[in-house]
Amino acid sequence: MSKAPVPHPILSTTRLRLRQFHPDDTEAMHRCFSDPAAMRFWNHPVHTKPIESERAVRRFIDCTPSYYRFWAVTEAKTNRCIGMVNYHDGHIRSRRAAIGYIIDPARQREGIAMEAVSAMIDHCFGDLGLHRVQALIHPDNAASRRLAEKLGFRCEGQLRDHLRVGEEWRDDMLYALLATDLRGGEQGA
Ligand SMILES: CC(C)(COP(=O)(O)OP(=O)(O)OC[C@H]1O[C@@H](n2cnc3c(N)ncnc32)[C@H](O)[C@@H]1OP(=O)(O)O)[C@@H](O)C(=O)NCCC(=O)NCCS
Repeated sequence: MSKAPVPHPILSTTRLRLRQFHPDDTEAMHRCFSDPAAMRFWNHPVHTKPIESERAVRRFIDCTPSYYRFWAVTEAKTNRCIGMVNYHDGHIRSRRAAIGYIIDPARQREGIAMEAVSAMIDHCFGDLGLHRVQALIHPDNAASRRLAEKLGFRCEGQLRDHLRVGEEWRDDMLYALLATDLRGGEQGA
């Protein structure tokens, strides 16, 4: 007998509700993916056509929980999508995953990423039992580096020509947070 699929976890914070994407979120995500400033350090070029964001949202609905999952970041009061957070590159044996995030340019610097990414990290260490969460961040991405540092991530070094976007090679800074960092160095996590 096949098992019933596990529902997409909903993560709640004071102001936000992180839920599964649906096709109606396309317009909101296109506001993010078509904005050159928001996309300056992203891992693919700016979307010039809404169909590109429609395809992206279709991929975000899908998930393989041991490897990746995407959440629409919504305002709890309105259910309106104002960004996306995800984990990806899950590695079961090493209990490790990487994270990504983007917030609607009109809603940045309101503490939304801090609230949303904190909730997803709690889910990663708590419900998923991960040991290491990492973030790969462009050296000039001041907003993302500040966010990671505020969340307790440590910078472990610079990866040269780590990413190819269009015709350009890009460096990444490797940031990581361990379950033991959060528990003050407790062993065996
Ligand atoms: C990175 C990003 C998600 C932050 O979202 P946000 O909701 O604006 O972040 P918050 O409001 O929670 O701010 C978190 C911290 O970063 C700081 N910060 C935000 N934007 C900043 C900027 N442009 N420059 C410097 N610091 C910035 C905030 O001041 C805050 O630190 P503080 O409390 O010490 O003041 C957002 O800038 C974004 O979507 N960027 C484009 C996509 C991207 O680059 N994603 C990361 C790929 S690795």
